[in-house]
Amino acid sequence: MTNPSARIYIDVNRTISDISPLVFSGFAEHMGRCIYQGIYEPSSPHADANGFRADVLAALRELNFRMIRYPGGNFLSGYNWLDGVGPKDQRPRRRELAWQSIETNQFGTNEFMQFCKLIDTKPMLGVNLGTGDISAAASLVEYANAPTGTKYADLRASHGYKDPYGVEYWCLGNEMDGPWQIGHLEAREYGLKAREAAKMMKWHDPSIKLALCGSSSTHMPTYPEWDRSVLEHCYDAVDYLSLHYYAQNHENDSTSFLASAAQFESQIDTLAGTLRYVKAKLRSKHDVTLSWDEWNVWYKDHLMSGNWSEAPHLIEEVYNQEDALVVAQWLNVFLRKADVLKIACLAQIVNVIAPILTTTDGMLRQSIFYPFMFFSRYATGQSLDVLTQSPRTETKKYGDMPLLDTSASYDPATGNSAIFIVNRSQTETIAADIVWQSEAPQQVKAIYQLAHPDVKAANTYEHPDTIAPVTLPGMVVDGGKVTVALPPLSFTVVTA
Ligand code: AHR
Repeated sequence: MTNPSARIYIDVNRTISDISPLVFSGFAEHMGRCIYQGIYEPSSPHADANGFRADVLAALRELNFRMIRYPGGNFLSGYNWLDGVGPKDQRPRRRELAWQSIETNQFGTNEFMQFCKLIDTKPMLGVNLGTGDISAAASLVEYANAPTGTKYADLRASHGYKDPYGVEYWCLGNEMDGPWQIGHLEAREYGLKAREAAKMMKWHDPSIKLALCGSSSTHMPTYPEWDRSVLEHCYDAVDYLSLHYYAQNHENDSTSFLASAAQFESQIDTLAGTLRYVKAKLRSKHDVTLSWDEWNVWYKDHLMSGNWSEAPHLIEEVYNQEDALVVAQWLNVFLRKADVLKIACLAQIVNVIAPILTTTDGMLRQSIFYPFMFFSRYATGQSLDVLTQSPRTETKKYGDMPLLDTSASYDPATGNSAIFIVNRSQTETIAADIVWQSEAPQQVKAIYQLAHPDVKAANTYEHPDTIAPVTLPGMVVDGGKVTVALPPLSFTVVTA
């Protein structure tokens, strides 16, 4: 019996858009063990002189996050940033209401800025628009970005940081559409508050870029009306509209789950349409693009109360092979929608729904680590409009779907290209011809593959390489074509 076959056509002139490097960003929240015992753990044998986990920093560097969003999440909406700066022994211990945990404030804005430097990434700071007022939001911009000579800039200098940080990217609150949010607001109330906060923040530093809270999920009854409404209040004052989504497989319907790209794509399409509608309605010349600033698979672990403990184990999702393939598809969608999606933050980066898990003396790379690493490393330059002819399958949730999900990048500056392919089939190896319709390379440099026959297989501390990529040798491109075998349930990266 021969394998089913497919054709993937690549044309380096058929471009979608430049790929914004910021789509390979992450999110770190004061939740569970993301910050404490994740990034920062002075008592760990792996801690450096400042308490940062050196092993975790090294793994984060492999992921090459271009930006990290911080400090929350739901945590943000009850956070007073002043609690987290200044001498550590004077910072308050607080009852943290979003996750019912104890917040020691031993890690705050300046430690975060140090962390960003250590992993060579940009910061994206959130301002609290739940319990916080617009004045505290503006003061944080002054603390972070103003030259010394005024109250909050001088406060920063007195804490040991004379030079302004120049933080460019800012979030105007978090998930303000959600009734669970501390200080949740109706769309109109949030729109008005966000607009006033934006005004003051930009007066402090006109160079900053602002992300407005869009809907926290497509499941919200207010989606996408919330987005239209808040945009109408703030369109010209902001630069990005945020969207969030967490993929789930509660029904254990892997065929549908493995076709989740359909959901991701339609969410972007709806919001891109909303952006265009509001721009036209307001006769604006300004462009707002999308920031998918929380995305990941999350449905297995819903422990969300810390029961008033420090660094509790909250939502430490264990990721398997099907989750890795959903993450890979999500990244495919980011490339396919590169014209409108300019920021995306994997939620989160350590321990809490994360690619990396830690114990005090150990660390584990989960299955989802690898697709993110490959995209972040190889998807540079421009996104290409790939034409894929593939066998198809029927899914309960999304109807008829192709078995292959693809994207590709080409970097005119280096001549490097990469093709990213998910084989959704749970049973079939697919023989895929990759056909270059222009500027075929002489050879494929290397092929990386992440495959496992069991959708539920996952890495454990005992077996950390159950899900790990293999490197296949390069091959000569013959007549503008190569044929690659794509095993069932696999993610393949072809680099040229
Ligand atoms: O990432 C976990 C939580 O999910 C975030 O705090 C919140 O923004 C979202 O609902």
